[in-house]
Amino acid sequence: MNNGKFYIESYGCQMNFSDSEIIASVMKKNNFLLEKNHKKSDIIFINTCSIRKKAEERIEKRISQFNEIKKKNKKLIIGILGCMAKRMKFKLFKEKKTVDLIIGPDSYRNIPKLINNIKKGKKAYSVLLSKKETYEDINPVKINSNKINSFISIMRGCNNMCSFCIVPFTRGRERSRNPDSIIKEVKYLFIKGYREVTLLGQNVDSYNWKYKNKKIINFSKLISMIADINKDLRVRFSTSHPKDITSEVLYTIKKYENICNHIHLPVQSGNDRILKLMNRGYSRLWYLNKIKEIKTTLLNKCSISSDIITGFCSEKKKEHEDTLSLMDNVKYNFSYMFYYSERPGTLSQKKYKDDIPLEIKRKRLNEIIKKQLKHSLENNKKDINKIYKTLIEGYSKRSKKYLQGRNSENKIIIFPNKKEYKKGKYVDIKIKNCTSATLFGD
Ligand code: 5AD
Ligand code: SF4
Repeated sequence: MNNGKFYIESYGCQMNFSDSEIIASVMKKNNFLLEKNHKKSDIIFINTCSIRKKAEERIEKRISQFNEIKKKNKKLIIGILGCMAKRMKFKLFKEKKTVDLIIGPDSYRNIPKLINNIKKGKKAYSVLLSKKETYEDINPVKINSNKINSFISIMRGCNNMCSFCIVPFTRGRERSRNPDSIIKEVKYLFIKGYREVTLLGQNVDSYNWKYKNKKIINFSKLISMIADINKDLRVRFSTSHPKDITSEVLYTIKKYENICNHIHLPVQSGNDRILKLMNRGYSRLWYLNKIKEIKTTLLNKCSISSDIITGFCSEKKKEHEDTLSLMDNVKYNFSYMFYYSERPGTLSQKKYKDDIPLEIKRKRLNEIIKKQLKHSLENNKKDINKIYKTLIEGYSKRSKKYLQGRNSENKIIIFPNKKEYKKGKYVDIKIKNCTSATLFGD
């Protein structure tokens, strides 16, 4: 029996892309077929992101485009999934009249049943959050995979309540996934030829699983269990929280060659007053001490990246300069940088005024980006003449004459293609040249 073809488009963080693979699996089990071309599909899903206003605006435009298609194809079903679905709920039906289905991040199992209702002419929605759902028993169906790297959710939700952030409201309370199901999934992927897994969670350091016999698996134990599966399997993770990352995790990274030397440790701001308003739970000094500990424990071999927000409520010029000086101190390998975008219902929207003019937000963001590019280039230049064990991921984007891989520090390396080089194998590459984003070698 074939229930129809579905197409899925994903926006936002890696967790969303990983969720789309769970959705695809739920659909396939119920005899729907995954279709890569939206023009040939009976159902269009958009897995959405609410993190910043711009993200939502982009998605709204896309929904309008699909609505135009629906005018010609009345039977087409349009489903809005994920964070925007949870945030806007049935308001989406009012604003986008041709949307049929609204599904929040904890309701993906309900989709097939609700699609049946829609086929009977009803609209459907399911947006309740769960304290337990981790989709642990669902084996994700890979979408657009290079068959080497895979993202795996190890937990869902977030308990942190950073004042600017919508995630705790759209994804709910934090819950960890059963380690047995994580290990099973990783072993399956390894047998299928995958050679790198990135463990995903909003705050991986608070991963915690308690077995019935009271044995506890914390994050450091989890990564060592995964690294033990096979030494040819690389383990990465994201995101670490500066207030929660432990020395035990750092020593585990040091102990295992296959746990990668890269930590994504978002600072958000370099100023104590702003960090307090953001409710981040650490000070500038605490953060810098963590960086020192990482650099000492991992002998300066670990790359460090960050997320930075400029123009947060009431941020003064001097406070913005504190972020710049913190960057000078840490010298991040790369950063994701944004200006503050007020989100409805968040603590900062309720308590503080979004009072920094857009042109100042933009100016500060540009200063941060400029500094980051400078640091990325300086860092990459230090890699010239070094030799890195590189996992081959496929052709380079520009030409089949070149291959692309990454080193343990998560840097992209481009090198000449040779017959004996196969995807999923490791090669030693000597770095010859670089830009701020890429290393080139042989
Ligand atoms: N405005 C701008 N950036 C935000 N982020 C989260 N919420 C907002 C917001 N309201 C950024 C943070 C976070 C990353 C995933 O997105 O830097 O770490
Ligand atoms: Fe949002 Fe903070 Fe949780 Fe990250 S840790 S998802 S920024 S609330």
